[in-house]
Amino acid sequence: QNCNIGFVGLGVMGKNLALNLADHGYRVAGFDLDAHKIQDVLDTEATERPDPSTEARIIGCSSMEDMLANLVKPRVIVVLVPAGSPVDAVCNSLIEAGLEADDIVVDCGNSQWTDTIRREAEYKEKFKFFGTAVSGGEVGARFGPSLMPGGDADSWKYLQPMWEAVSAKVDENGKPIVSNTPGKPVIEGEPCTAYLGPNGAGHYVKMVHNGIEYADMQLICEAYHLLRSLLGYEPEEIGKLFEKWNQGVLNSYLVEISADILQQYDHKTGAPLVDIILDSAGQKGTGRWTSISATQMGVPAGIISESVYARALSTLTGEREFAASKLVADVENGEVEAEEVEKAIEDALYCAKICAYAQGFQLMRAAEKEYDWKFNFSDIAKIWRGGCIIRASFLQKIADAFVENSALENLLLSDYFADAMASKQAGLRKAVVLAAQSGIPTPSFFSALAYFDGYRAEVLPANLLQAQRDYFGAHTYERVDAEPGQKFHTHWQEEGRPERKA
Ligand code: 6PG
Repeated sequence: QNCNIGFVGLGVMGKNLALNLADHGYRVAGFDLDAHKIQDVLDTEATERPDPSTEARIIGCSSMEDMLANLVKPRVIVVLVPAGSPVDAVCNSLIEAGLEADDIVVDCGNSQWTDTIRREAEYKEKFKFFGTAVSGGEVGARFGPSLMPGGDADSWKYLQPMWEAVSAKVDENGKPIVSNTPGKPVIEGEPCTAYLGPNGAGHYVKMVHNGIEYADMQLICEAYHLLRSLLGYEPEEIGKLFEKWNQGVLNSYLVEISADILQQYDHKTGAPLVDIILDSAGQKGTGRWTSISATQMGVPAGIISESVYARALSTLTGEREFAASKLVADVENGEVEAEEVEKAIEDALYCAKICAYAQGFQLMRAAEKEYDWKFNFSDIAKIWRGGCIIRASFLQKIADAFVENSALENLLLSDYFADAMASKQAGLRKAVVLAAQSGIPTPSFFSALAYFDGYRAEVLPANLLQAQRDYFGAHTYERVDAEPGQKFHTHWQEEGRPERKA
């Protein structure tokens, strides 16, 4: 009865997170419906245990009752099963197995935030339901993920020491401290986890993380596509260029892995591996949820949405093949200067990335009002500096911007990012012009530029739009010379066209 934490679900993520906890001195009681998975984690623990003469740090349980009997109270149980109904099925089985009101069930899956809000309320009388989203894939779970917790504030005090121990760590400059050696976890450094708020707050933040992840990935793909199509670069050359970019402001995990991917060759054919992979993108849905949530709240998150659509368009492989033979592009393919274009694309990627993060943070700003949360945006930027898929050096600058002004309405308005956009936007404009002239699809670059120009526009053509609405539907409009909120309607067809006055 002396285990600190229980696990239901010992698949890849559950297994790795359990081993991570064991490395940090916590005793784990694990259960899975598949006995092989239990055995697998026990075998791995035995091989990795620093001193084989000491007792096992993870025990396998034959049932949920057995697991509960082995946990100290209040019991903390991590659930790592597929999002959706399996989470509720586990919660109900745990209730039947004897869960008590003070016990804490932590959903570490990629659950939709609305489910977490519902579950927290639904299970209130039976136990404390808590959400913690995990980013970083299997390596992250094993050696230090970014953890995004949200739920009952009292339960956080039980989870905090464990979550801070197992999460990724960054040094005083915000750089990840990495050790991927079993039994030798990173102890020092600032943990990439922070309590984000009640009920669905953590899962919402993770969803936005994934929306940004979609945008980040798509923008890198567009940069690659431009370099290849405009300059005729081979994947390996682009990989080397990305390695160089990774030394500067674009330093990030996604640029790093893209550089590596582009330099790999297929074992079978010897061709660049990227050329062997079918150009049809999958998605599990978190980017789509982000786009839907933005649309529902009226937040402009076009880059994220375009990145979701780009994946959708890519899946129309048969149709695209036919369209390629049917639809002719009337394009100009002028001379381009390689070095200049390279620089423009690098700057374009940086500017578009800033805009995508600005949209993500703007979205969370709207969500905190909608759901009555109180986000600390510098904390969110900080916990994304290490462990997660969108980890990037510039997150330190985002954290600094929100420390300087916690009420910052849009990241683009911080001095640092306003200056970055001022000095590098020419690259984004050039990349978009070249893409348009050459017929290369770069929807997220286009969307980023449109967002930037739209956001900084003092006057937009929405005046004409309001007039159109009033014309056909009497929807009314406000006047620039009247009190805000005062509504006007013109009888467009009956009143005739008055003369222009001076
Ligand atoms: C992470 C990832 C992870 C997963 C994505 C993939 O933060 O570790 O986001 O959660 O890889 O959900 O999503 P798609 O299948 O939708 O690309």
